[in-house]
Amino acid sequence: MSGFDFEWLNTRFAFDQQSLNGELMNKVVSDMNNLNSLIKIVDLGAGTGSGFFHLFPKFSLPQQWTFIEKDKNLLQPTEERLQEFCQRNNFKFNKIKNKKYEIISEDKFCAIEIVNQSIQNAVKNNLFLGNNLITAFALFDLFTKEELINFVQKISPLKIPLYFVLNFSAMEFFPSTENNEYYSKQYEGHMQREKQEGRSLGKEAVNWLPKLFKKQNWEVVSRKGKWQIDKNENKMMWNFKLNFMKNALEEMPLEKTKLKAWLEEKFNPNLEERIEVYHKDFYFKYF
Ligand SMILES: C[S@@+](CC[C@H](N)C(=O)[O-])C[C@H]1O[C@@H](n2cnc3c(N)ncnc32)[C@H](O)[C@@H]1O
Repeated sequence: MSGFDFEWLNTRFAFDQQSLNGELMNKVVSDMNNLNSLIKIVDLGAGTGSGFFHLFPKFSLPQQWTFIEKDKNLLQPTEERLQEFCQRNNFKFNKIKNKKYEIISEDKFCAIEIVNQSIQNAVKNNLFLGNNLITAFALFDLFTKEELINFVQKISPLKIPLYFVLNFSAMEFFPSTENNEYYSKQYEGHMQREKQEGRSLGKEAVNWLPKLFKKQNWEVVSRKGKWQIDKNENKMMWNFKLNFMKNALEEMPLEKTKLKAWLEEKFNPNLEERIEVYHKDFYFKYF
């Protein structure tokens, strides 16, 4: 269990869609549509399949997707989300066998397999060979530096294009106040706290990713994107984000009265505020 609630993953979808850099995505889509064959994609840390939902409509060729996801609690919600998507769009949804599906319409075909295992095991099991694209949406800030180095060493020799997007780089409250800045920094620090598997990279992933691939002679294209969350207009997203912050900050050895007052302010609808969360999107190609 990774703790990624499907309601959270679904809520952030529209914000992710806005954040994704269109120019970079078009480049990836155009490269794939030029293959003139079945497009084979592996999505790392697929969650409930958001990566697929972002890209599937853009490709004009038949597709084959492999979702790699370690959290078994997301398997059923992912299947339901795929099914609901097909119903809404009048696509045929075939369950082939355990966690294998087909989506068919007049002009589209897609085979999907959900593989419930870690990315590290998927690398060991050679699940990437023969694919045309590896994607990861909002994943690498969760990796430790050692996991990332290991992953890049293993994936680099395969020379498969990589589209790694929605990598967290910073956050900012508007209006900007001393306390807003202080608690944002504390929260960013909490993301990078020491855990059983090591220290997550948090915002450092956006520095390490290009550095590691450039070292292996990859071409790196990067673009920026952001979530814009308004306290009153985007209540659900605001509450998710602020509750993540609240839970994290309350775990930390911070002065309680000051924190309580700040949190009250954040949940007070009479104070207009917004958060911007900045991301970096990458497209890596071997040349
Ligand atoms: C922030 S969520 C993003 C999910 C999805 N890509 C999206 O954009 O909605 C990160 C996902 O990666 C999965 N994950 C993290 N580390 C993983 C690993 N080492 N192997 C497989 N899945 C992993 C988590 O379980 C979680 O579902």
